[in-house]
Amino acid sequence: MVKKKLSDPLENRKGALFFDGFSVKELAEKYDTPLYVLSEKRIQDNYNRLYTALLNNYKYVRIYYAAKANTNLTVLRILQSQGAYLDTVSPGEVFMALSSGFTPDRILFTGVSVRNDELKMLADAGVTINVDSQSELDRLLKIAVPHILSVRVNPEFGAGHHDHCITAGPESKFGLWEEEVIQAYAIAERARVERFGIHMHIGSGILDVEPYVKAVDKLLRIAKRVHEEVGINFEFIDIGGGFGVPYKPEDKEFDLKLFSSKVVKLFKNKVKDYGLGKPFLFVEPGRYLVCDSSILLTTVNTVKVTPSRKFIGVDAGFNTLLRPTMYGSYHQILVANKLDESDKETYDVAGPLCESGDILAKERKLPTVEEGDLLAVLNVGAYGFSMSSQYNSRPRAAEVLIRQGKSIPIRNREQLGDLVSSQKVQCES
Ligand SMILES: Cc1ncc(COP(=O)(O)O)c(C=O)c1O
Repeated sequence: MVKKKLSDPLENRKGALFFDGFSVKELAEKYDTPLYVLSEKRIQDNYNRLYTALLNNYKYVRIYYAAKANTNLTVLRILQSQGAYLDTVSPGEVFMALSSGFTPDRILFTGVSVRNDELKMLADAGVTINVDSQSELDRLLKIAVPHILSVRVNPEFGAGHHDHCITAGPESKFGLWEEEVIQAYAIAERARVERFGIHMHIGSGILDVEPYVKAVDKLLRIAKRVHEEVGINFEFIDIGGGFGVPYKPEDKEFDLKLFSSKVVKLFKNKVKDYGLGKPFLFVEPGRYLVCDSSILLTTVNTVKVTPSRKFIGVDAGFNTLLRPTMYGSYHQILVANKLDESDKETYDVAGPLCESGDILAKERKLPTVEEGDLLAVLNVGAYGFSMSSQYNSRPRAAEVLIRQGKSIPIRNREQLGDLVSSQKVQCES
């Protein structure tokens, strides 16, 4: 018998997978598949672990949850109750944030290629705008002079788990470079903006601490120049998110203790050395807070053996979980009803879409799989549902939250009617 090593909130009870105390088989029977299952407790634990680690080395810390990772209103509400603030990247996310109960003063907007009507909506809503370009700043100041403003800096150096996820450095479309940053603050100051922050986000899925050391060092040197040359004080300095999580069993965890003792301490020492006062340190994690709080349950429809491969056909494709197709990402998969069986076969796990790229896992070793088996795809809480679509006219999946020993639906499964609800048929005249 092979015992699979599982970590909280996953459990092996006599070969059957349990998630936060619930039999996933029973959840699948009750709510059908594909189904996202989320653990409230895991989100809360992740938030508290991160906050405590940061506070160990600096007193003035705020966590801005990057909503894009998972915009479910209940997830937003859980993090709000923990004390989180919110990082948003579109007017839609601001709307979601306000709908979930975040007040505008707790919302930061970091957009790119922002339209004028969107800038007006954001200024009217009173959220803090973090401008991404000189053009955005000029257009904003013509619409409204905000009380508080931040500028996104490209610290000339990025990092990330995939090229698409590196959001700073020479190839990046994001942020302003050093000389432009100085100019932007000078313009904002002349326009009588009263309060300021400064921001960067170097990328996503970063498991090492060194990239942050390098980028924070650069950001603070730029902040010092702005302080000295433009004469403004920063209320906050936002060093972005991107803290990675282990997806493969052999991946290491993001070393929070090391991050705090190196990066947060560096921050504390440098703001003092540079005479920057006591600005808030903002961080913007998405993935770290929600990734391992969720699994995706999917049922095996077909097992197909060709002369060259063995395919398992399941009911979740890249319409439900895009990351494997989009980034070639690895997600661990468990056969939820066969945890004690050894991995004897090598399969490609394929979705139901009419696309050859619709593969959730390639050449994956699993126990012998049969039709009707239930698979659990792990670590899908970040960029899982939020990247899902109706491609191939497939309604989106349902979401269920495990809260204090109860399973609670937090998103209805879309129905066929949802596929047509925003369309109008134009008949020939
Ligand atoms: C501006 C900004 N902040 C924060 C994040 C969060 O990244 P992660 O989920 O990797 O922490 C992102 C992600 O792309 C981002 O673009």
